[in-house]
Amino acid sequence: MEVAAVYIHIPFCHSICSYCDFCKMYYHEELVDDYLTALEKEIATYYHGEEIKTLYIGGGSPSCLSLSQLKRLFQILDVFHLTKEREVTIEVNPEDIEEEKLQLWKRWGVNRISIGHETAQAKYLADLGRSSCLTSEALSLVKRYFSNINVDLMYGFASQTKREFLKDIFTLLSFDVPHISTYSLILEEHTKLYLKHYPRLDEDVDASFYYLLSSILEQHGYTHYEISNFAKEGYASNHNLTYWQNDHYYGFGLGASGYLTTRYTNTRSLSSYCAGKYRLEEERVTKEDAMVYEMILGLRTAKGVSKSSFFRKFGCQIEQSFDIMELLNQNLLELKGDHYSIPKEKWYLENSILIKFLEVKREK
Ligand SMILES: C[S@@+](CC[C@H](N)C(=O)[O-])C[C@H]1O[C@@H](n2cnc3c(N)ncnc32)[C@H](O)[C@@H]1O
Ligand code: SF4
Repeated sequence: MEVAAVYIHIPFCHSICSYCDFCKMYYHEELVDDYLTALEKEIATYYHGEEIKTLYIGGGSPSCLSLSQLKRLFQILDVFHLTKEREVTIEVNPEDIEEEKLQLWKRWGVNRISIGHETAQAKYLADLGRSSCLTSEALSLVKRYFSNINVDLMYGFASQTKREFLKDIFTLLSFDVPHISTYSLILEEHTKLYLKHYPRLDEDVDASFYYLLSSILEQHGYTHYEISNFAKEGYASNHNLTYWQNDHYYGFGLGASGYLTTRYTNTRSLSSYCAGKYRLEEERVTKEDAMVYEMILGLRTAKGVSKSSFFRKFGCQIEQSFDIMELLNQNLLELKGDHYSIPKEKWYLENSILIKFLEVKREK
């Protein structure tokens, strides 16, 4: 089994957003110190010294750690054998952008920065419980040290108009970054927004925003390479491609998930984690499961799933394993050369199409 990707979860943030259901908690100096000790132990328990091509430090907001904590984190991560062409990403909250941190990340080999911008409009930032967004001044500072930059954009706020959305898209284009991840607001149960019955945007409006965003970004030189992700040539996220190609990866840290011989998710309880009880759930992945993952993850991408590589991996054809005739007849699936993919004009329906995939799996 080849493993060449590592995800590291840092679950701390200086403030907690009203929509966020990620594994996160308020920053507290001593908690971070204890957490880093536990993280080091978890890595020592499971990492077998493989060559790692992509390392992704996500959260939470790993950027909220102090300079000395960040230094300690990178000393811990030094255990990984990274290849020369490594991609090392860190997730950054705009509040935390400061020159000394940028210098430290650069020095420790980070070469990709992912920033949660979300929206430039004060009223929606207030809805989200976020104090700030990315400014052009902060971005200029980041660009002095990094060129491979992703910015997250959110939309789908209650009563958001097309005019407001266009304003956000053009602000984003003015940033001139090579990668953009987009998120339509999900009202996750137990979040503040959900509990206060924040209204959902009409689904047809949400769908029209999705296609508007896609067409404007494509006109400006971005390739819509995955349902929610856009990149200029050469800047697709190698780490995320690991997930979509159904490849193996380590997940370390509170609430992190990984895919080794099993798919697993770590506990979200800090006390259990610090006591060395890392795993919460572990699912054995049968060949049948792996085939389903291969399809539903690969079909998120514009390229889709390769027939020949499916055959190489599983020793059978896609058509033998899935009854895809109806999906093809309904134009929910298409075959281009060696690859099955979902036509771009159907991408908004992606989730329902993927659910159909589970239904068309042929029983052995
Ligand atoms: C870990 S955060 C990014 C880094 C940093 N914590 C921050 O917020 O600036 C990952 C991204 O997930 C997206 N996200 C989180 N919860 C979401 C939700 N309920 N609906 C839509 N997008 C969400 C946001 O765009 C956010 O930027
Ligand atoms: S969206 Fe980012 S900053 Fe906000 S609570 Fe979630 S992880 Fe923290």
